[in-house]
Amino acid sequence: MEGYADVRCDYQRRIIRDRRILRDSYIPKELPGRQSEVEKFTNLLLPAINNEPSLNIVFLGKPGTGKTAVAKRVITDLSEKFPSAPVRYIYLNCSRSNTAYRVMYALNREYGILVPPSGYPYDELYNNFLAAFKHTRQWLVLILDEVDLLVRRDGDRLIYSLSRLNDEIGYKDPGIVLVGISNTPNFLEKLDPRTLSSFSPERMYFYPYRAHQLHDILLQRAKEGLHESSWDDGAISFIAARVAAESGDARRAIDVLRMAAELAERDGLDRITTEIVKRAFKSVDEEEVIITIRSLPLHHRLVLLAATKLLLRNEERPGTGKIYYQYKRLTRDYYVRPLTLRRVSGILRELDEQGLLSIRMSYGGSRGNTKVVDGLVLEPAEMYQIFTNMGFT
Ligand SMILES: Nc1ncnc2c1ncn2[C@@H]1O[C@H](COP(=O)(O)OP(=O)(O)OP(=O)(O)O)[C@@H](O)[C@H]1O
Ligand SMILES: [Mg+2]
Repeated sequence: MEGYADVRCDYQRRIIRDRRILRDSYIPKELPGRQSEVEKFTNLLLPAINNEPSLNIVFLGKPGTGKTAVAKRVITDLSEKFPSAPVRYIYLNCSRSNTAYRVMYALNREYGILVPPSGYPYDELYNNFLAAFKHTRQWLVLILDEVDLLVRRDGDRLIYSLSRLNDEIGYKDPGIVLVGISNTPNFLEKLDPRTLSSFSPERMYFYPYRAHQLHDILLQRAKEGLHESSWDDGAISFIAARVAAESGDARRAIDVLRMAAELAERDGLDRITTEIVKRAFKSVDEEEVIITIRSLPLHHRLVLLAATKLLLRNEERPGTGKIYYQYKRLTRDYYVRPLTLRRVSGILRELDEQGLLSIRMSYGGSRGNTKVVDGLVLEPAEMYQIFTNMGFT
């Protein structure tokens, strides 16, 4: 029995050596395809390290293009390489610190000032921070990741006041280097012109990864995180090529690799093949769809379910009218009042924007011009299965 257990263990661990390497939070020492960005960002911070004024910086680029990875890698490396430089690095993610108040609160804590998390006057937080910052006589490199979320929620007053600070501080004294990271490309256009002119950041663009870059990124993860010769090179090239064609998003490429490794282990295989990778793409897509559907309000779910049911019955390209009829039947089953046809038509458009289904106009049919559902992001049967698993029928 013991021997059997050992074999099973060994068998199950044949692919993944270190799960942490395949997680989103893991940042490798080297970032393939981003050497020049690492170098540029490092060089932009060197003046501060030498106690001289540095430019503000903004990283712009789509999701999964390595913005967070480059920012964190560089500040980690710089603080190790220059431990006695007069610089303090603070990284904040604005998905949590999404108001000026919360950022200031986080800064107070970083400087060791204990304040209550709410109900404290903002100006006092600001003054506390300013006094502590001046007292340390160190430059502050403040990275505001996902800063577009802060600006969307609370405007740009924080960016304005922090970038103005440098003008108020004497030229000889340490200042603040503001680094904003955004995955909305037109982020700077949303800033007030006065803010933009004080902030006036050096722009660094992060372009979607190309296939050979994704290949290098994946190969590095495989070498660090998987057992030796537990993957086919063709399988890795397949992920790289497909993700490059879709989006160039490294996060997605790594997710697919992780999923492929898990599927291969689950099936007791000894290597990741292209076949497994194709299945992994499906599973990752399905996971994403499940997350999106979970975030939808009930009526959106019912409209999507109505379209799914019609497509499942081989109805070709059901129009708004048919979907509405099906939706109304569903609302009866769920004891909710149906929304109007007009509203349901709007919901269809929103589902299209979220990529769950695709709609198009059908011109000049027997009923004139109508909106029809062309297809779902998954096969109707797969979509229906997701609904069934969520308890919808
Ligand atoms: N050049 C690279 N080498 C190795 N890993 C990378 C590289 N670029 C990105 N990654 C990895 O891909 C994932 C996504 O990258 P990252 O978080 O940096 O993207 P991002 O540009 O910040 O995306 P978002 O806008 O969604 O925040 C992370 O796990 C990161 O470690
Ligand atoms: Mg990021």
